[in-house]
Amino acid sequence: MIVLGIETSCDETAAAVVTDGEGKRILSNVVLSQLDEHRPYGGVVPEIAARAHVEAIDGIVTEAMRDAGLDWDDLDGIAATGGPGLIGGVMVGVMTAKALAYARRLPFVAVNHLEAHALTVRLTGTDDGRAIDFPYLLLLVSGGHCQLLAVERVGRYRRLGTTIDDALGEAFDKSAKMMGLGYPGGPEIERRAQAGDDARFDLPRPMKGRAGCDFSFSGLKTKVRQTLEALPPGPLQDRDIADLCASFQKAAGDVLADRCANAIDMFVADHPTGGPLVVAGGVAANLALRGRLEALAVEKDIGFAAPPVALCTDNGAMVAWAGLERLRLGEHDALDFKPRPRWPLDPGAPKAAYAGVKA
Ligand code: KG4
Ligand code: ZN
Repeated sequence: MIVLGIETSCDETAAAVVTDGEGKRILSNVVLSQLDEHRPYGGVVPEIAARAHVEAIDGIVTEAMRDAGLDWDDLDGIAATGGPGLIGGVMVGVMTAKALAYARRLPFVAVNHLEAHALTVRLTGTDDGRAIDFPYLLLLVSGGHCQLLAVERVGRYRRLGTTIDDALGEAFDKSAKMMGLGYPGGPEIERRAQAGDDARFDLPRPMKGRAGCDFSFSGLKTKVRQTLEALPPGPLQDRDIADLCASFQKAAGDVLADRCANAIDMFVADHPTGGPLVVAGGVAANLALRGRLEALAVEKDIGFAAPPVALCTDNGAMVAWAGLERLRLGEHDALDFKPRPRWPLDPGAPKAAYAGVKA
């Protein structure tokens, strides 16, 4: 099968073509980031994002088809992120995909953005080229989500834990903003942390040592603010920034490793032959955190996989792949599909204590 995928749920306008014929392959992958539009505001402004998607989408889709060297008749379906995300942007991608599907008489697939992150490793496989079969344990860490899920098959996810307040990517972005670093904060914190002393600042490890595998990051973020306020007045020194970034990243890694250790135990109890531990979503691009989690997975003997760094942050290939997986199972969506601002992967999961809408 050959599928076009469109992603517009946040601040990337992206389109890609993937195939599962004669080996899984990405035939094209075009990502236009709106960073410059949002940077002055230190975060994504939904209305600016939606307008930027409208302006870019036709050109990005055309480029993805041209890069793939394909004609519309070569496609087996068209997928777009149908949610969750910023609704104005999701509508742009969904309307574009529906129009193309209607005009070309192709099936349309509305993809859950979280499912797209969750299934990306099945497109890319392990580092040594092995395929990833179900079930596996997924740590999904992005700007909007921080969850641990048992991925049992396409469309079936059991949530083992989630954040009761902020997502980890959000904590990275907000901490970076407080330090005067650019948006998005994750990559910049990772870069600055390389030169820092991770033991200089004593930051909390929220939830560490507790039963279960829920997360909390708002206390860590608050402590970053208090630490900054306690520094001598005047401009922030590069050394202070590097040490705070390193201390923050270390604390985040300690929390992730502690929560994932519990999740591995819970997962293995239910799926004795399952695995590996997979980490996906934008924060999975962080090599220090990946290394931490890989070491844990080796110690727990469960195996480890993560998408290539470029496919951790939002892209069209993951959407095309999730669409392809659903089409292969004979599934697609009607053209009256309504974009969904919220779309949990495990609708049956109990609401986490104290959690807001993100859980
Ligand atoms: O998956 P994604 O592109 O969008 C969402 O679905 O949210 O994730 C974006 C998030 C941002 O919060 C960004 O700061 C974070 O991923 N991120 C990182 C890194 N690269 C991106 N966080 C930590 N380290 C990185 N290298
Ligand atoms: Zn994402």
